[in-house]
Formats: sequence, structure tokens, C-alpha cells
Amino acid sequence: MEFSWLELKDFRSYRELRIEPHPGINVFVGSNGAGKTNLLEAAAYLTSFRSFRGAPDEALINDEGEAAVVRGEVRHVASTSLIESELPRRGRRRVRVNGQRPARSTDLLGHVRAVMFLPDDLDIVKRGPAYRRDFLDAVAVQLWPGAYLDQQEYERTLRQRNSLLRQSGREVDEPTLAVWDQRLSQAAGKLMVRRTGAAAVLREGITETYARLSGVGTRVELHYASKWGGSLQEEGADTVAEVLAEALEGSHRADIERRVTTMGPHRDEPWFTVDGRDARTRASQGEQRTLALSLRLASHTAISDAAGEVALLLLDDVFSELDMERANALAGMLPPAQTFITTAREEEVPVHGRTFLVEPGSIR
Ligand SMILES: Nc1ncnc2c1ncn2[C@@H]1O[C@H](COP(=O)(O)OP(=O)(O)OP(=O)(O)O)[C@@H](O)[C@H]1O
Ligand SMILES: [Mg+2]
Repeated sequence: MEFSWLELKDFRSYRELRIEPHPGINVFVGSNGAGKTNLLEAAAYLTSFRSFRGAPDEALINDEGEAAVVRGEVRHVASTSLIESELPRRGRRRVRVNGQRPARSTDLLGHVRAVMFLPDDLDIVKRGPAYRRDFLDAVAVQLWPGAYLDQQEYERTLRQRNSLLRQSGREVDEPTLAVWDQRLSQAAGKLMVRRTGAAAVLREGITETYARLSGVGTRVELHYASKWGGSLQEEGADTVAEVLAEALEGSHRADIERRVTTMGPHRDEPWFTVDGRDARTRASQGEQRTLALSLRLASHTAISDAAGEVALLLLDDVFSELDMERANALAGMLPPAQTFITTAREEEVPVHGRTFLVEPGSIR
């Protein structure tokens, strides 16, 4: 898939912008603060309808504007779609696909699939387990848009169970808590099927892309630990729900004491090993960076396979972080996708494509 054009109105630093990117590689060159990441944020907005930087919608509206608009035409293998999103300062966001408001929120997802590479991707490897859970869950949504609803349901149910624990303290009514055990377990079953599925499709790809990037046949593995028995073995939603329900019942005392749900998929710990060693604490900087890149490359392959067409690639200031060897290896492995690359220094990007100059408020 590819954008034939992309238009922004009052999005971040842009008042009015229209670009017509090349179906292949596009390089956006501009100094710090010029608006390069803002452009990628806009393109990625049409994938997930939220800021990849975690910014609230309101931060996306130009300081002088009343509503931000992002609109793009996407060419697919046998069709085109027009995706539009308008974020007013007051009132609800409006999204239209081919001029229509989709009936269900998941109908919005999946029209634009994109994999983003960020310097912060190192966090997935180096920082706490929440980064790895979020990574797996985000891949799942792009593989199967319905995963979004399952994740939301789990989050909502968890919040409700936690709020019961917080508000009632020791006075908590156990039969009521047991009802929430059931609900949370059901939601966890669906969530885990998605998370496990994402891990399964990534697993092979990670080792392969790691080997191609580094030139050595290092074994890279994804592991998963949980206190309640959750694992990356595919077990089906019902089995997961049963196992968690039992564990939750057993943890009533701890949960009541701490006034929070102390186990479940939200506390699970995925981790990676490189040649059997924990990548977080025992891999070198270079190995960690290679692993982070291979996670993104493997996601791109998996998401493209699931979509039946090649997903977009958005690389935000990635090459400047890499030594020349890795930069060249990554350049050599970029799949034939529509690709947006941002950089402050063009000479650091070892691939050529259509070049755009980014200046505050405009792109030429
Ligand atoms: N809502 C907004 N309205 C107007 N300007 C905004 C808004 N949000 C952010 N900006 C401006 O956008 C600019 C940052 O843009 P962006 O992050 O895209 O820069 P960049 O080109 O990626 O820079 P760097 O090379 O440092 O990463 C900042 O100057 C910021 O003030
Ligand atoms: Mg930037």
C-alpha cells in the first residue's frame, strides 16, 4: 500500500500541507524542530488514530488553529481508499473512510498499516517489561485490528477491579470480587490469544532478521514469564481464562492487602535472549540496537503478510543512531515498501529516493 498524497491542515507545526510521496523511498531533510517527526506522526495517525508519541489529540492541533485535519489517499493492490480524520479543539474526533463514518471503531483500523522505527526502540530491549508487552500488543493490533477491542476490554475490566479494591480496602465484598475475577479472566483469555499470536509470528522473523543484520547466526529468542501460568504456548482463550480465574481467586488476600490486581497479563514479563543471555542486562549496546531493528523488520514482514500487501515504513531519525556498518545493513534490508525517512543530515542516510526539504510549516 502507499500514500498517493497526504494533506494536513493545522496539524502540529503545519497550517496547510500537501505532499505527493514517491511509492518507494522518500527522504525528509530538515533541521531540528523543522517538523519532520510531526509529518510522520500525521501519517501514523491514520494507522492507529492516536499519536505515536503518546500525545493527547489536543496537542496535535496547531496553536493557531481550531481543528487539525489529516487526510490521505492510499493505493492498495486493487483499490484506493481515502482516510480522513478531523480533530476539533472542542467536541469529538471525526474519522471517515471513503467519505463514510464507519459503524464500528475497528472498521477504522487496518486501512493504513505502518511500521515505525524510532531511536527510542532501544527501550523495548533495554527497559522494563511494560515496553515489551506494549510492543507485542501493538503488533497484534496491526495484525488483527480486532485485537484493539480485546485490549481495551482488558484494560477497562482491570481498572474496574482495581477501583473496587482501592475503594473498599479490607471491607471488600468477596463475592463481588469473584465476579470481577471472572470478567477479568475472560478478557485476559482474548488478550493472551492476540499476544501469543503476535509473538508466534514474530519469533522466526526476529532470528532471521538479526542474523541478516549482524552477519552472524546468533540465536535470538523471545521468552515469557507470568506469576499465574500465562505463557507463549498457544492455549486458547478458555484455557487461559480458567487458569487465571483460579490464580486470581488464590491472590485475593494479596490483592486486598495491596489494593491492586497483583497478577495477570498486565504484570507479565516478556524478555529476549541473545545467544541465551538476557538481552536487557547482558547484551552489548550494538547487540541491543541490532535486536531493536530486527524487531521492527520482523514486524513489518509479519504485518505485510497478514495484510496481504506491503505495509508502510516510517523511519524517524534512525540512521544517525547507527554505526556505518549497521546503517548499511539496515539500508540493504529495507523491504520494497513506501518508506518515509527523516534526517537532519542527508549524508547519514545510505539510501536514495525522492528528497523533500522540511522547513517550519512547509515541505518542498
Ligand atoms: N500544536 C502545535 N502547534 C504548533 N507548533 C507545534 C505544535 N506541536 C509541536 N509544534 C512544533 O513543532 C516543532 C517540532 O517538530 P518536530 O518534532 O516534527 O521536529 P523535528 O523536525 O522532528 O526535529 P528533530 O530533528 O529535533 O527531531 C517544534 O518547534 C514545536 O514547537
Ligand atoms: Mg524529530
